[in-house]
Amino acid sequence: MASTENTIYVVTGANRGLGLGLTKRLLERTATTIVASVRNQDAATSLRSSIEGVVIGENSALHIIELDFSTAISPGEIAQVFSAAVSTVTHIDVLICNAGFPTPMTPALLTSAEDLRKSFEVNTIAPLLVFQAFWPLMQRSDSAPKLVVISSSVGSIASQEPVPGGAYGPSKAASNWLTKALHVENEKDGLVAFALHPGWVQTQAGDFVAKEWGYPGDPPLTVEDSVKGMIGVIDSATRENVSGKFKSLTGDTLSW
Ligand SMILES: NC(=O)c1ccc[n+]([C@@H]2O[C@H](COP(=O)([O-])OP(=O)(O)OC[C@H]3O[C@@H](n4cnc5c(N)ncnc54)[C@H](OP(=O)(O)O)[C@@H]3O)[C@@H](O)[C@H]2O)c1
Repeated sequence: MASTENTIYVVTGANRGLGLGLTKRLLERTATTIVASVRNQDAATSLRSSIEGVVIGENSALHIIELDFSTAISPGEIAQVFSAAVSTVTHIDVLICNAGFPTPMTPALLTSAEDLRKSFEVNTIAPLLVFQAFWPLMQRSDSAPKLVVISSSVGSIASQEPVPGGAYGPSKAASNWLTKALHVENEKDGLVAFALHPGWVQTQAGDFVAKEWGYPGDPPLTVEDSVKGMIGVIDSATRENVSGKFKSLTGDTLSW
């Protein structure tokens, strides 16, 4: 069982794509505990089998919790699910809100209320409620606690992509706003909070968007390359250099 002195990460949406890639790489580290959230039992089984080949670092461990963000779960319920599953974990160092999904990439003129609601539920409301649930444990971190919200360049208002963003773009833009607000509001506790664009990556979501945009081929980045870049940015993030910003996997700063 992992020591409470381990570096403790929470990663949401860890059963596939970038969440799985992050979980695998982090598990290879020594003295690292990952609490991975998945939507249901099937996803938990899939995650367990996907990490079978990973060489887990000394004293490191994976715990799996189930959270379905399709409708808002209160911070109290999220905290209860967490403590019931991992009562040995008494602090959190890094929270990576990664779970997310794209609805069809319609032009704004054709974007439906239903798609907006669905997108905001998973991409905007869930990361905020997850942070609210875990902030008390994050405040018990020995180092500066980090909130990493996996965003998208499609959510940039200043430099809109020349392709339709559907309900996905506005839901990520709103999530960016909340991330910046959490940075501003929690200065005295030293919170490092930033939005992180993973690049355009070969995952289910990345492939779906490629089809929606009529892109001929696969998205340019592999999960491994994206994860490598993101972990570099997360590891070196401080209140001074990254917090309150919209960063890309290469460390560049994007416009909100
Ligand atoms: N791939 C890209 O090119 C790209 C670009 C920019 C930003 N992003 C962002 O990167 C993050 C990860 O995406 P990905 O590319 O790895 O996509 P992915 O392979 O489709 O994985 C998405 C993850 O989010 C989970 N999720 C979706 N809806 C959920 C819900 N209602 N409740 C709980 N979990 C839910 C999925 O769980 P299930 O398996 O249960 O559905 C899955 O684990 C997302 O926030 C996405 O917006 C991706």
